[in-house]
Amino acid sequence: MLSKSVLPKMTQSSASTSSYSRMLFSLVAALALASLSQGIPLGQAQTNQAQVPPPQQHTADKTSTSATSVTRGKYIVEGVAVCGQCHTPRASSGNLDRSRWLQGAPVPYQPAKPDADWPINAPRIGGTPPASDADMIKLLTTGIWTDGNRLRLPMPQFRMERSDAEAVVAYLRSVTAQQ
Ligand code: HEC
Repeated sequence: MLSKSVLPKMTQSSASTSSYSRMLFSLVAALALASLSQGIPLGQAQTNQAQVPPPQQHTADKTSTSATSVTRGKYIVEGVAVCGQCHTPRASSGNLDRSRWLQGAPVPYQPAKPDADWPINAPRIGGTPPASDADMIKLLTTGIWTDGNRLRLPMPQFRMERSDAEAVVAYLRSVTAQQ
């Protein structure tokens, strides 16, 4: 079972952002909460609870351990934390372009009021991650990026358990543009 800490947290800086982005966060949080509290994962059509891999076990068998970790990370990325909604470009149909999965994309949401600090892009995170594993895990468990600051909205402030963050990073590393 995923811990509640996977959920994005509101930050103080969010007070200055639009109601649209707040709405988005509430939506993501509400969906995730509903899913967690009822024990039903998001995206039930694609997955069911029996398929949710257990947290990474530290066993001697490295191969199966990392395979489990990647599967679990994929579930968190696709079913709970929806990283792909922002970090994957869209095809002309408006659907996420799976051939460029997590390869970076224009931010799909605009603030209601012009905000000079609103990022233009959600960078590539699939394949070789943009930072070391330690820095990626720090971001996903604390919300702090390599420069010692939080990333800007609409990037959610994640507070994942370490094992969940490790699984996400293992999955991101496994992603290729063709997937
Ligand atoms: C609602 C949109 C959104 C979602 C969902 C989202 N991100 Fe982001 N992410 C962004 C934006 C926008 C930025 C750029 C922030 C900035 O420039 O300050 C960003 C930046 C990042 C960065 C820094 C990359 C770099 O090279 O600077 C990482 C790493 C990252 N996100 C990982 C993730 C992961 C992992 C997930 C899912 C667990 C995720 N993001 C979910 C929007 C999102």
